Amino acid sequence: MYRIAILGAKGGTGKSTIAFGLSKVLANEFSVVLLDLSSSRTISNIMGIKGCLTIGHDFIAEDGKLKIVSFHLPFIQLNESPNLKDIYDEIIDEAEFLILDYGLPLYDRVASYELELFYRTRSDSSHIIAVSPPHDFIIKSTEKMISSYMMILKETSQVDSGLLDFFTVNMIRQEDMNKEIKVGVSPIYGIVKIPFLRNLSFNGFWNADIPPQIVDMASKLAQAIRLERTS
Ligand SMILES: Nc1ncnc2c1ncn2[C@@H]1O[C@H](COP(=O)(O)OP(=O)(O)O)[C@@H](O)[C@H]1O
Ligand SMILES: [Mg+2]
Repeated sequence: MYRIAILGAKGGTGKSTIAFGLSKVLANEFSVVLLDLSSSRTISNIMGIKGCLTIGHDFIAEDGKLKIVSFHLPFIQLNESPNLKDIYDEIIDEAEFLILDYGLPLYDRVASYELELFYRTRSDSSHIIAVSPPHDFIIKSTEKMISSYMMILKETSQVDSGLLDFFTVNMIRQEDMNKEIKVGVSPIYGIVKIPFLRNLSFNGFWNADIPPQIVDMASKLAQAIRLERTS
């Protein structure tokens, strides 16, 4: 299974936009589970999901080969029943791509519980897509977040560390698109620049066409999973 964590150090910068767009495009060809771990529940709310997996009802929305799963609600007790592990496994095991929309906190019980559930019986690496706006200090914080996440992975899983697939710099002013942006990490598939797009901003990503940069990221990931299969 190709597990991809979407993370970044600032809210409102396009993490859910990228998680949603990638999931939609990949689901044209693969079975995809999009796991919403964010406390803002943006994607769960868009899909009209009221509950969550950890309370055991109204946690899933399906759209063709795409399953959108709300992992947890803020302000409720985390329910770690043995049954939950089975439901989690049942949903996740069918997925060729598992895409995680983390939102901001990586260190909370919810995020670490999901990692425990995942790595209890699996050893797939965690791929990472980082998302940042084009401001130096947020890019730096996002780089730090990537290394923290890799340390968390090392502690939780048997896999060495995470693999940074892309670093996405989002909401770049059109006139700044050709300017150099300093990113201190080297993602496997490179740095992706996405301009500020008025229709995304005014209509919301769920009502807008998926930006071509995200479609392109999806095709690189599709290529990667095809290679993984043949090797
Ligand atoms: N490149 C972009 N240009 C303009 N608006 C964007 C862009 N990317 C995302 N948005 C919009 O910004 C808002 C916040 O994005 P979201 O993905 O929810 O952020 P996050 O998940 O990081 O909090 C959404 O309304 C989304 O449609
Ligand atoms: Mg979000």
